[in-house]
Amino acid sequence: MSTHPLSHTNPILQVDDKGVAWITFDDPERKVNVLNKQVLTRLSEHLVELRNLALQSRVHVVVLWSAKSGFVAGADLAVIEAIEDPAEGAEGARFGQRIFRSLREVGVPTVAAVHGICLGGGVEIALACSHRVASDSPSTKMGLPEVLLGILPAWGGTTRLPRLIGVRRALDLLLSGRQVSSSAARRMGLVDEVVPADLFREKVAAFAAEAAANSAEKRGARRPFLKRLMDDTLPGRRWGLSIANRVVLFMAKKRVMAQTGGHYPAPLKILEVVGRSANKPLAKAFEFEAKAAGELVATSVSKNLIHVFHLREEARKQTGVDDETVEPGRVEYLAVLGAGVMGGGIAQLAAYRGVHVRMKDIRHDAVTSGLQHARKLFTGLVKRRKLQRREADQRMTLISGGLGYDGFLRQDLVVEAVVEKLDIKRIVLRETEDVVRKGCILATNTSSLSVNEMASALARPENFVGMHFFNPVHRMPLVEVVRGARTSDYAVATTYALALALGKVPVVTNDGPGFLVNRILGPYLNEAGFLLADGASVEAIDSAAKKFGMPMGPLRLLDEVGVDISRHAGQSLHEALGDRLSPSPPLVALADSGRLGKKGGLGFYRYESGKEKGPDPEIYAVLSRSVPPARVALEEREIRGRLVLAMVNEAARALEAGIVQRASDVDLAMIMGTGFPPFRGGLLRFADTIHNRTILSRLKELEERHGARFAPADLIHRLARENRGFYESFPG
Ligand SMILES: NC(=O)c1ccc[n+]([C@@H]2O[C@H](COP(=O)([O-])OP(=O)(O)OC[C@H]3O[C@@H](n4cnc5c(N)ncnc54)[C@H](O)[C@@H]3O)[C@@H](O)[C@H]2O)c1
Repeated sequence: MSTHPLSHTNPILQVDDKGVAWITFDDPERKVNVLNKQVLTRLSEHLVELRNLALQSRVHVVVLWSAKSGFVAGADLAVIEAIEDPAEGAEGARFGQRIFRSLREVGVPTVAAVHGICLGGGVEIALACSHRVASDSPSTKMGLPEVLLGILPAWGGTTRLPRLIGVRRALDLLLSGRQVSSSAARRMGLVDEVVPADLFREKVAAFAAEAAANSAEKRGARRPFLKRLMDDTLPGRRWGLSIANRVVLFMAKKRVMAQTGGHYPAPLKILEVVGRSANKPLAKAFEFEAKAAGELVATSVSKNLIHVFHLREEARKQTGVDDETVEPGRVEYLAVLGAGVMGGGIAQLAAYRGVHVRMKDIRHDAVTSGLQHARKLFTGLVKRRKLQRREADQRMTLISGGLGYDGFLRQDLVVEAVVEKLDIKRIVLRETEDVVRKGCILATNTSSLSVNEMASALARPENFVGMHFFNPVHRMPLVEVVRGARTSDYAVATTYALALALGKVPVVTNDGPGFLVNRILGPYLNEAGFLLADGASVEAIDSAAKKFGMPMGPLRLLDEVGVDISRHAGQSLHEALGDRLSPSPPLVALADSGRLGKKGGLGFYRYESGKEKGPDPEIYAVLSRSVPPARVALEEREIRGRLVLAMVNEAARALEAGIVQRASDVDLAMIMGTGFPPFRGGLLRFADTIHNRTILSRLKELEERHGARFAPADLIHRLARENRGFYESFPG
């Protein structure tokens, strides 16, 4: 192809001898293309130039594509983050909208050629083009993740998407932020054609040539510029008036409210904009979109969600150790000791991600049920169309199981998930150490035992680390990577990298009772028991926590985890941390009653076939020794304050004890491990909005009324005295 380079700054414009203008995104400073003012201004200059070339019939079609492995990853987040003023936010939206609209004013077809990741502003460029084509590469993914950052697609995306693919499908993408493959994008009408990735340029050129030919044919003579401009301001398809679409919007709003409790303004705004702009001229619809974006971008919810996004991204880029020279080992062969609830889950996840897994148990039936558990999870994925049957079968063949140590010499890492008994774990680990190669990492999935105490049984404690998954393994995103006193950087980095490869969010902690998340949850769950003892009802306690934004209340969570497991975890914390963790009498009474929680069909709630059927009316009779005969109406604020401050106080103690070094570790772990509400930005980011002076005085009040368990941590005294926040004092 002979080309005339017309410009060298990103994006680059070249026109070939067939009259195809290629606009190539290629940010010289980053791995991915992002859109900022400079890039958009350059794009706009190209479009003005192209309009002239089109008028002179020197350009017949424009292709927008990328020289990188991805198309465009979206707008520059740093810019969005810095906006505090809604008017400024709306202006930023109008700026992008104007430029993207000019894609339709060039006078010739515009083709977005998408290969690799195409998110947010990238999709909005594609939507503004007259044609869209995507490569069949598995890396090609399209999505509008704005809602996950508390905003909406404001460069025309919220307006154009329903007009292109219909309201129902558009809302699915806009409200979930999910990414779709090119074949799914084709099915929903988001792209016109999918072409082979290995012949991408040729196929795109052919597609563009055809688009140019069709458009010339259709138009006969070129439409006058004013007419084209008019077309763009005419109403879109008349979807807005249909009753079916009103129902779709109504139902979507109901779902959003049920899922978010109204805590997230972005999905509601998206519904409002889509509803209001129905049947309106584009110019009006864009204005709704811009104003809504301005309002959203300035909210604290959006700032918090962007904060959480950064935390996740940072975790993804790190190795888990400070020493940058440490190279993590690659785990291709993984063994799992114990084929129970956790072992089976870990094995399935690893096989799903392409790792060879060997499960070892001491009972045949356990191995069989571990394999069955994995098979069931794969079948679920097939049913939900996340995997094809053939792929599921293939991955299932990666898992094998048995009672012996055969094949252990080739293992890169072994995760121990046998019963929670220190002496058994020490024996099993010692035995395993003898049958693996020297460099193999041994990891324990214990949730309450000391990594250091296990390490002391080993000849190579440097290769030993905690790898604490949460239950259910396939759903819970957090893995605590626990560094023992003698654990090497290599062991931490290898385990951290494995957690990432399994699609998890790792947080490195030091060894200590309950590590990080269970330690902070302990006082919270226990406080729910004390609230019951003070006469609060099950509903009042759980609803206060849910209104704060927790995915479920503490009593419902105790049922979910299992009353027996919670009791055991509570006892370990009590033994290790002392009286402030003395189990509350109602929790002891519940455990004594023999109720198991959800798995047994009865806990604080009743369950039928695994479905919750509301609080059990008998529960107060069951707990009668520890709760008053009649319910007392405690204020929601009081309940919430006690639950949340119990967590903040314990988090402060965990920081003090050096379990983690950064406030952000606490926040990421609590969000990923307990579902702590992301819109609050994390436990300590939330605490920082109340300030440590207020926290101190509230804790002192609670200590006076309810006893020493609320005694403020020394760290809180210190931070209150210095008038400093957690993030300020534990940055990074
Ligand atoms: N269940 C949870 O919610 C949860 C969450 C996080 C961590 N954990 C931890 O994971 C570990 C396993 O828990 P689980 O719930 O899967 O238990 P489980 O009882 O379901 O499974 C334990 C399995 O280990 C097997 N086993 C016992 N001794 C063995 C040995 N010497 N060698 C090989 N296998 C042996 C048992 O036969 C059983 O199949 C525990 O340390 C637990 O604390 C559990």
